[in-house]
Amino acid sequence: MSENRKLPEKDIQNVTFECKTEKEITSKDIDDFETFNKGVIARMKKLRQDNPLFESEITGSFVHIYAKTVIQDTIRENKSIEVVFAKDGPSLVGYSIVGVDREQKSGDFSYIGVSKDTQGQGIGKKLLELRHERLRDIDIKSYTTNARSEILAWYDKLGITYRRIDKENATPSTISVGTKVEVFT
Ligand SMILES: CC(C)(COP(=O)(O)OP(=O)(O)OC[C@H]1O[C@@H](n2cnc3c(N)ncnc32)[C@H](O)[C@@H]1OP(=O)(O)O)[C@@H](O)C(=O)NCCC(=O)NCCS
Repeated sequence: MSENRKLPEKDIQNVTFECKTEKEITSKDIDDFETFNKGVIARMKKLRQDNPLFESEITGSFVHIYAKTVIQDTIRENKSIEVVFAKDGPSLVGYSIVGVDREQKSGDFSYIGVSKDTQGQGIGKKLLELRHERLRDIDIKSYTTNARSEILAWYDKLGITYRRIDKENATPSTISVGTKVEVFT
């Protein structure tokens, strides 16, 4: 029985191992996690496709972890984003991110998140207001994004104007799928 569970032996000759204390860890070591995490994200995407429950149960939490990667990737790839951070003292408690094209005056993805223990206090609403204020300031009148049904319910509650874009045109480029919508600022 245990024989069956034994994993095939792999050739790990090219794998090197490094033991480090916290003082020896470099920013490159941290950055390496980004590539590593892309594998995790790809796996999550596969799970999401296979299990509809995964979408509603997990994505709302996972998006927070993904947000950091989105910001880092955008900066690394020289793309543009408009971000709003909400901080309670020194602690980050919420964020809004929109991917923008300043020349085309458009936006093509967005994320918003508030930490679990500070949700329901108006932080998300304020983030959304400041997001739209900032976008209007730079003459972006609308942006496209993927939104799950609970987020659309939230938009409805806050009186945010949006229009659904045909599913055919939906190109979910992110983990957070749902309905593709154009949100008006
Ligand atoms: C969605 C989210 C950002 C809302 O932030 P929040 O700070 O909790 O929201 P607010 O407190 O500003 O909400 C304002 C109002 O909307 C209501 N509301 C919150 N979520 C709602 C929902 N899904 N549907 C309807 N109403 C909602 C609040 O109860 C509040 O109502 P009130 O003014 O009558 O008290 C937060 O729940 C979150 O981080 N969710 C997980 C991440 C996520 O799914 N992000 C979207 C994908 S990018």
